[in-house]
Amino acid sequence: MIAPSILSADFANLAAAADSVAGADWLHVDVMDNHFVPNLTIGLPVVRSLHRATDLPLDCHLMIENPDRWAAGYAEAGAANVTFHAEAAADPIATARSIRSAGALAGLSVKPGTPLEPYLSILTEFDTVLIMSVEPGFGGQSFIPDVLAKVRLARSHVRAGHLRLFIEIDGGITADTIEQAAEAGVDVFVAGSAVFGADNAATAIRELRSRARAGMAREARLADSP
Ligand code: DX5
Ligand code: ZN
Repeated sequence: MIAPSILSADFANLAAAADSVAGADWLHVDVMDNHFVPNLTIGLPVVRSLHRATDLPLDCHLMIENPDRWAAGYAEAGAANVTFHAEAAADPIATARSIRSAGALAGLSVKPGTPLEPYLSILTEFDTVLIMSVEPGFGGQSFIPDVLAKVRLARSHVRAGHLRLFIEIDGGITADTIEQAAEAGVDVFVAGSAVFGADNAATAIRELRSRARAGMAREARLADSP
C-alpha cells in the first residue's frame, strides 16, 4: 500500500491534495505537537475536516507527547489507523485498546534509534507497526537503511505467525529506496516529498507501487527459498 504524506502538500489546499492522490491506499496525516518533535502541524479539527473531504482512509501518525490522552480522539475523528510512538506512551496496551474500541486500527511507531525487541510481545495488541526511517519531525530527509533490520525482524514474526499486522515504513521513501524496503518486508510505504514534490502525484504513486511490487516479489522468493 502507498500512503502519501500530506506533510509535503499545500496546507491551504488539503482537500485538493487528497484528490490529487485518489489512487493511493491510505492518506498519511502527520500530527506534530512541537514537544515530541520540533515541529508543529495539524490536530483534531483538521483531521475531522479531512475525513469529510476525502474517501481515502486516514492514517494518522501521532508525533506527540501523552498519546494515551489523545489517540482515541483521532479514531473518533474518523481516522482508519492511528499510530502513536512507543517512546511517548505511558501505557501502550491501554492506548491501543482505546483506539480499537473507537473503531480504528492501532499502530505503534519507533524512531530510528529505538529497538523493536522490547515491544515485540505487546505488538499482538496492534494492527500496524510503523518503523521510522528518518528522525521524525520533517519531510524530505534521507532514508536510513539500518532500520531495515527492524523491518526484517517484524517480518520474521509475521511469517512465523506470532504477529498479524501491517509493517509500515516512513521517511525518505522514493523510487530509489522503496525496493529495498519492500524486499525487507514492508507492506505500507509512506511517501511525502516523493509524491507531493513530483510534477504529477498520480504518476509518482504508480511508479512507487510498481517498484514496491518488484521488491516484494523478491522478498517472497527469499521467503520461499530453503
Ligand atoms: C516525518 C513524517 C513523515 C514525512 C515523510 O516525521 O513522519 O511522514 O512526511 O516525508 P518524506 O517522504 O519526504 O521523507
Ligand atoms: Zn509520518
